[in-house]
Amino acid sequence: MNDEANKASRPEHDDPARYIALAGFEGEWRELWWNHDYLELMARRWRLHEVERVLDLGCGAGHWGRTLLPHLPGSARLVGVDKVAAFLEMAEKTADARGLAGRCTYQRAEAEALPFDDASFELVTCQTVLIHVADAARTLAEMRRVLRPGGLIIAAEPDNLAGTMAWLNCSVETSPADVRALIELQQVCERGKLLLGEGDQSIGGRLPGLFYQAGLEDISVYNTDKCARLVPPYANHEERVDLSVLGGWCRERAWFTGGRADSLRTFVAGGGSADEFPALWSRVEAWCDAFLRDVEAGHFHGARGMLHYLVSGRRPAEGA
Ligand SMILES: C[S@@+](CC[C@H](N)C(=O)[O-])C[C@H]1O[C@@H](n2cnc3c(N)ncnc32)[C@H](O)[C@@H]1O
Repeated sequence: MNDEANKASRPEHDDPARYIALAGFEGEWRELWWNHDYLELMARRWRLHEVERVLDLGCGAGHWGRTLLPHLPGSARLVGVDKVAAFLEMAEKTADARGLAGRCTYQRAEAEALPFDDASFELVTCQTVLIHVADAARTLAEMRRVLRPGGLIIAAEPDNLAGTMAWLNCSVETSPADVRALIELQQVCERGKLLLGEGDQSIGGRLPGLFYQAGLEDISVYNTDKCARLVPPYANHEERVDLSVLGGWCRERAWFTGGRADSLRTFVAGGGSADEFPALWSRVEAWCDAFLRDVEAGHFHGARGMLHYLVSGRRPAEGA
């Protein structure tokens, strides 16, 4: 790796404040990924009325657990775990502020070695976490261990590469050469991340097979039914929240591969050449500038569909 690539490191470890800002941990953006009438339907399909103890793995600032909570029995209790203390503090603060402290508790833990007895939970769930772990199969085995027989694992995990294609098909004028270059950049960076043990950013579509290999049954696969719509003059609340996050990424030069230094690091790790990187990155910058300009001028429009899978499976009942 060249020097610049070497110097960069994982932002959630070394700069939690930047990660908090870019991951949308502040505010409600991550809660807007879901329609509650859809989750109500999913709660019936998943029989969430049977659930009393929930583990929210890699809970971050607690958004996913809080999103599911209204669809669980009022008596259900949720434990959120994360490896980064700063995120857990945010989750705790929000739970306090929303009067949920009696139902939601948070503690530090590594996904690969959970500090819970076997069969502790009826539901073990995560959102955008398996895309980050070094070994998703190992993490799934640990999730299964702490699940009671008959209990449910739900993973909400994206295919980020497909999501970028949807993004590039919005109204910003992106030439075929730009699309190819931006997808290539992301593919190589994703490969680098995988090789560095930093997760498979587009794991969503591979999860059903991993669930099968983990010995889960009754495997089901859905997608979020939520598409972010951005139509001038961006007057509704959700559009404004979405634009504040997406605009922040573009101003900060944070692409789907991370910031410049982090992207270079994973690009090189994925087999890309450091010499080729600046030209690819200049296309990212040009795209970000065009997006910001088009939004400012009220020209940008698009439906930002996410391929955000909901994969679930049950631990076989004892004796089954
Ligand atoms: C993109 S965030 C998702 C947060 C939350 N699940 C949500 O949907 O808002 C990924 C989270 O997983 C956590 N994480 C990643 N790898 C982990 C591991 N091995 N053990 C525990 N937490 C982990 C990160 O610290 C981060 O908070």
